[in-house]
Amino acid sequence: MRIRNVAWGGLVTAALLSGGWAQAAGDSAAAVERGRYVVSTSGCNDCHTRGYPESGGKVPLEEWLRGNPVGFSGPWGTTYPANLRLVAQSLDEAQWLQAARREMRPPMPWFSLRDMSDEDLRAVYAFIRSLGEPGEAAPEYVPPGVAVNTPYIDFVPRNLPNRQAAR
Ligand code: HEC
Repeated sequence: MRIRNVAWGGLVTAALLSGGWAQAAGDSAAAVERGRYVVSTSGCNDCHTRGYPESGGKVPLEEWLRGNPVGFSGPWGTTYPANLRLVAQSLDEAQWLQAARREMRPPMPWFSLRDMSDEDLRAVYAFIRSLGEPGEAAPEYVPPGVAVNTPYIDFVPRNLPNRQAAR
């Protein structure tokens, strides 16, 4: 008992001496919480989590952001919402900030990430990395004109007014 107390005392002293250890842990818990908020209110799950829109968001956290094997096909070819757990785990924070601000193919709303503050992007990163086991990568991008053999959504506008005629 005595020995235990001494050990705890030592730990607490070490934590105090290391200046801000507890603070850092508090900050990262806050970042994870903020990241979860940003992800769930910015629509990332619409595409990057299977079954999320169909179930009105009733997908357990364990399944979030693992990517989607159902592609989106349009003039750009066929794209698959990436497994964001794998992406975040393969990058350090600085690389994540860079990768998240690149131009990406449709229908990824890359301009939303581009306009996100560094702080929120870092929070999203902390949140994604707090999620567990990543699971499998989404299928590879398929260029236009190449046969697609996965399920996909035709992302092509129909019945658009003829702009030429309207002018
Ligand atoms: C409308 C569907 C859609 C939504 C909503 C969406 N994404 Fe994506 N995202 C995609 C697709 C599709 C790709 C793959 C694009 C490509 O192949 O170029 C992608 C790619 C990405 C990538 C690049 C992954 C890599 O391999 O480097 C990141 C990062 C990303 N999305 C993050 C997010 C975040 C964070 C949100 C929420 C703010 C979000 N996405 C919302 C569809 C979506």
